Amino acid sequence: FGRLLILPDPNAATAAAARLIAQTIRNDARAVLGLATGRTMEGVYARLAAMHRDEALSFSGVTTFNLDEYVGLSASDPNSYHHYMRTHLFDPVDADPARVHLPDGAAADPGAECAAYERAIRAAGGIALQLLGIGDTGHIGFNEPPSAFDTRTRVVELDEATRRQNAPMFGGDPEAVPREAITMGVGTILESKRLLLLATGPAKAAILAAALEGPVTPEVSASAIRLHPDVTVVLDTDAAAAL
Ligand code: GLP
Repeated sequence: FGRLLILPDPNAATAAAARLIAQTIRNDARAVLGLATGRTMEGVYARLAAMHRDEALSFSGVTTFNLDEYVGLSASDPNSYHHYMRTHLFDPVDADPARVHLPDGAAADPGAECAAYERAIRAAGGIALQLLGIGDTGHIGFNEPPSAFDTRTRVVELDEATRRQNAPMFGGDPEAVPREAITMGVGTILESKRLLLLATGPAKAAILAAALEGPVTPEVSASAIRLHPDVTVVLDTDAAAAL
């Protein structure tokens, strides 16, 4: 696949990812970005917030689409990805609320919400750069295995491993983590013009080796990125240890 950048530590890796995103915005003030959540991304958003503050990086014309949201959590729920994004990025960079999009986990009709999300991405002209993390199950977004490579935005059931991975944000109790999420599909993700996968830390080493060097298979959703013509993978040395 495309480019693989291995940097000495998580700070350097998140900084490199933030620079790529900032470059995209500087090249096109009306860029459409695909965004991700998770602990790994907090460092990226902190850098972008600093660039907004210190280097006049403007988000006022930028449109964003997040990958996913938990089903059953409203935008105001402190554990929702809506809340995460406001806290870590949208408020600090003064994003235009009319241009930021996440699936509505509290939608009365989740199926209609998923279809509307796909239409909104298309209406915006598609995603120029999609930021991706990777879950312990190999998921991108919340595409738990197996996720066919042509899947679209839909409701998925979260794996037990994912609920354990994300339990720290829910007071440590996996049972407190919602059972379902709305996620962009693998097919939706693959339609972005560019993909940027960021992962740090030793816990991600094994799944990254599977995703980047094992078979390209719906059993490891992240392996799908190897089918994309313009992919950048940014890792720290710990995450890259099994490559
Ligand atoms: C959640 C998100 C994923 C993200 C993953 C990684 O599961 N839905 O998009 O890749 O977290 O989380 P972390 O960065 O906390 O390891």
